[in-house]
Amino acid sequence: MRVLDAVASARLRWTTLVNRRDPRLEVNDRRFALVVTERRIEARDQDVVSLRLAAADGRALPPWRPGAHLDLELPSGLLRQYSLCGDPADTRAYRVAVRRIPEGGGGSVEVHDALPVGSPLVVRGPRNAFPFAVPGYGSPATRIHFVAGGIGITPILPMIGLAHRLGVEWTMVYTGRNRDTLPFLDEIAGFGDRAVVRTDDEHGLPDATALLPGIGPGTAVYCCGPVPMIAVITRAVSEIPSIEMHSERFSPPPIVNGTPFEIRFASTGDVVEVGADRTALDTILESRPDHPYSCRQGFCRTCKVQVLAGEPDHHDSALTAAEREAGQMLVCVSRAEGGRLVLDL
Ligand code: FES
Repeated sequence: MRVLDAVASARLRWTTLVNRRDPRLEVNDRRFALVVTERRIEARDQDVVSLRLAAADGRALPPWRPGAHLDLELPSGLLRQYSLCGDPADTRAYRVAVRRIPEGGGGSVEVHDALPVGSPLVVRGPRNAFPFAVPGYGSPATRIHFVAGGIGITPILPMIGLAHRLGVEWTMVYTGRNRDTLPFLDEIAGFGDRAVVRTDDEHGLPDATALLPGIGPGTAVYCCGPVPMIAVITRAVSEIPSIEMHSERFSPPPIVNGTPFEIRFASTGDVVEVGADRTALDTILESRPDHPYSCRQGFCRTCKVQVLAGEPDHHDSALTAAEREAGQMLVCVSRAEGGRLVLDL
């Protein structure tokens, strides 16, 4: 029995060795387990928390570049994207920061209330939907101007760090309701007077001149924040020649010239109307509150459905021509120009 036992355990050790996953394979999977190793409150109003995430065994994590984000699979099953706001040179940990938004669908509240230090967490990524091209290293611009609105500072922070390290000429306007709501003020202060903090309670709502002071040709503008702020900047920048505009927003894009249409749920035959100013996803969620979604901006593919009849009007940036041809649709941004879509729901 002892001989048999020894043979069996040797075989088990061998099998384990042979089947052991190379950490780099897990990296290629782009889905892996991390642990919350640190939590910090980052804004005076207590409503922004940062999480430091690391591998349980301390191994190096997949590399990332400024502008990248991580998908967090929250304990409830929600999938949410958060910008990486730490130092890309720190290969042992990621940092994300999240503002508590009680009406935001539950993801931020869960990050605040259900992820204490030591919590295991599955993440996907990093992926980059807001790439940063440094002047002289891939961008023809000669200087950079950053604009961050509130929690929109998160993707901007690593960009500033890199621009600063490379000696690139840069400026920034950091704006929000008041100083209590602005996270990372201490870190921003470390960059000196290149970074101007401008709050609504002291200066009123900012206009284009306030957000883009002295900006002219040859500038690359990177902005992240609420939709109205980005709209003001986009309009102003469109009138300046030779300027680069890069932006990322944390909320769904506005619906422009929407047309009402109907959705028929194939499984029940129920028909719902999507208003001209509403998304198909919002309408679906009223009767199917557990329909999956994440980015609400047409890039993560979480809300994908199969169209069984009707002509979708695609507005996403994720589906391939073949997938559209096969009848797939991302209901967070895509809709129809009138008529009815029959969805496999
Ligand atoms: S929710 Fe991300 S693509 Fe629709």
